[in-house]
Amino acid sequence: MYNIPVILGSVREGRRSLAPAQYLVKKLQGLGHQSQLVDFKEMPLPFYNAPTVPVVYYKTAYPDPNVQRWSELARSAHGFIIVTPEYNHGYPAVLKNALDWLYLEFEHKAFGLVGVSNGSVAGARVIEQLRTVIENFGALAVRETVMLGPIDKYFDATGKLLDDALDKRVTGLIESVVWWLKKLQA
Ligand SMILES: Cc1cc2nc3c(=O)[nH]c(=O)nc-3n(C[C@H](O)[C@H](O)[C@H](O)COP(=O)(O)O)c2cc1C
Repeated sequence: MYNIPVILGSVREGRRSLAPAQYLVKKLQGLGHQSQLVDFKEMPLPFYNAPTVPVVYYKTAYPDPNVQRWSELARSAHGFIIVTPEYNHGYPAVLKNALDWLYLEFEHKAFGLVGVSNGSVAGARVIEQLRTVIENFGALAVRETVMLGPIDKYFDATGKLLDDALDKRVTGLIESVVWWLKKLQA
């Protein structure tokens, strides 16, 4: 069993990505994995403002207590699932900033990607952009993805699940992450 936190890419008031992220956490736990929501609304990070690169702080301590918390959380993870909206065909600044703060914490780990959108392209562009970022960590984004667009088809505004077929897709994504985690740790 693995520790697979779910990173939420939106801190917006009324964010629709919250429901699928919470769903993923519950699903992972139900499958016997350890998981928690990583929510930068609850754990705000400064915009990257350190005088040097993050690897320097990895061995000592980060200059900000929330970044230190984020580092410890990421360090103890085997892999990650990112649930994120697409903003202007790319990743939200808050998500990229959180990824920029760390580096070695992600090395040789596997990421599953879930895109959220109110449109029919369903976050496909943000998912593809994140692959190149994740690759730079010496990490791997698994081929399988879950794209939730339009989000209204899958969860209503109160967070209620509307499509039972989502369970199979989410299970497939988790299975793929776990498959890679086994390979990476072999
Ligand atoms: C700043 C901003 C930019 C957006 N750009 C896109 C976009 O490029 N593609 C898209 O499909 N949806 C876009 N949307 C709409 C989002 O898909 C929609 O608001 C979704 O609910 C965002 O997720 P969130 O509610 O978790 O923040 C954008 C929304 C915002 C706030």
